Amino acid sequence: MKIAIVTGASSGMGREFVKQIGYFYRTLDEIWVIARRGERLQELQYVSIVPLRIFEGDLLKRPVNAALKEALSKEQPDIRMLVNAAGFGKCGSVEEILGEDKNIQLEMIDLNCIALSRMTFYCMPFMSKGSRIINLASAAAFCPQPLFTVYAATKSYVLSFSRALGEEVRQKGIVVTAVCPGPVDTEFFDVSGRIENVWKQMVMAKSPDVVRKALIDSRRGKGMSVYGTAMKGARIASKFVPHSLILKLETMGCKGDRQ
Ligand SMILES: NC(=O)c1ccc[n+]([C@@H]2O[C@H](COP(=O)([O-])OP(=O)(O)OC[C@H]3O[C@@H](n4cnc5c(N)ncnc54)[C@H](OP(=O)(O)O)[C@@H]3O)[C@@H](O)[C@H]2O)c1
Repeated sequence: MKIAIVTGASSGMGREFVKQIGYFYRTLDEIWVIARRGERLQELQYVSIVPLRIFEGDLLKRPVNAALKEALSKEQPDIRMLVNAAGFGKCGSVEEILGEDKNIQLEMIDLNCIALSRMTFYCMPFMSKGSRIINLASAAAFCPQPLFTVYAATKSYVLSFSRALGEEVRQKGIVVTAVCPGPVDTEFFDVSGRIENVWKQMVMAKSPDVVRKALIDSRRGKGMSVYGTAMKGARIASKFVPHSLILKLETMGCKGDRQ
């Protein structure tokens, strides 16, 4: 059985991947979708051209991980694609966020880094030549970001993990692509807090466009998928401008936003 697995499939980019994957990989038998909001996953069945198998649950808890592991061992599927899209961020200083919820930043590290790695480790034994892993990193991975501190750090992990893993599995013909968009119009900001920054609002991308580019870049064997000229510019700047200067500019920008 040929399958794709998509985490975070109940909304935003994960949902969009489920809608588009079937058009890129015509031979898939099923897409296995994972998220906490099961009713959203049920609704997705009506818009996916590939049959779905639903795994409803919290990736930070044991049951959904155990159910997935068991299904993998029972079905021994040929995993053609894994999309790790489950993730969240929180805007604000580390201290402010601690004041609101002392565990949330640790949960962010658990979901964005540990759950993503765990899912990758579960799936790798079922991958072979031509299989693909798409990990949702972010343009926030390019350099540290005050007032998005933990989130940006988790995404740096995802970018570094994906690129190095991609080199390791290249010989086997497996492609790993880190997707690094700037702001994308999804429910992400309902959880993270709205962005007031006018510049960020101006470069806000649409999720179908980001996902389509990610799937094309993955098919072309690219290690990174960066959507839009502004984010490509940000990536280049993060390589050549000293991070101490970028940090100063970011801090000035953040202060401006809060005035
Ligand atoms: N939107 C942006 O501006 C942006 C930019 C760059 C990168 N990204 C990254 O792209 C990825 C997708 O984000 P998005 O924009 O599509 O946001 P989104 O619409 O909020 O989607 C997040 C997904 O993660 C799932 N999720 C959250 N916590 C979970 C948990 N504990 N267990 C299982 N699933 C969980 C959510 O489903 P349930 O709530 O149903 O569990 C949802 O399906 C994230 O990794 C995000 O960091 C987003």
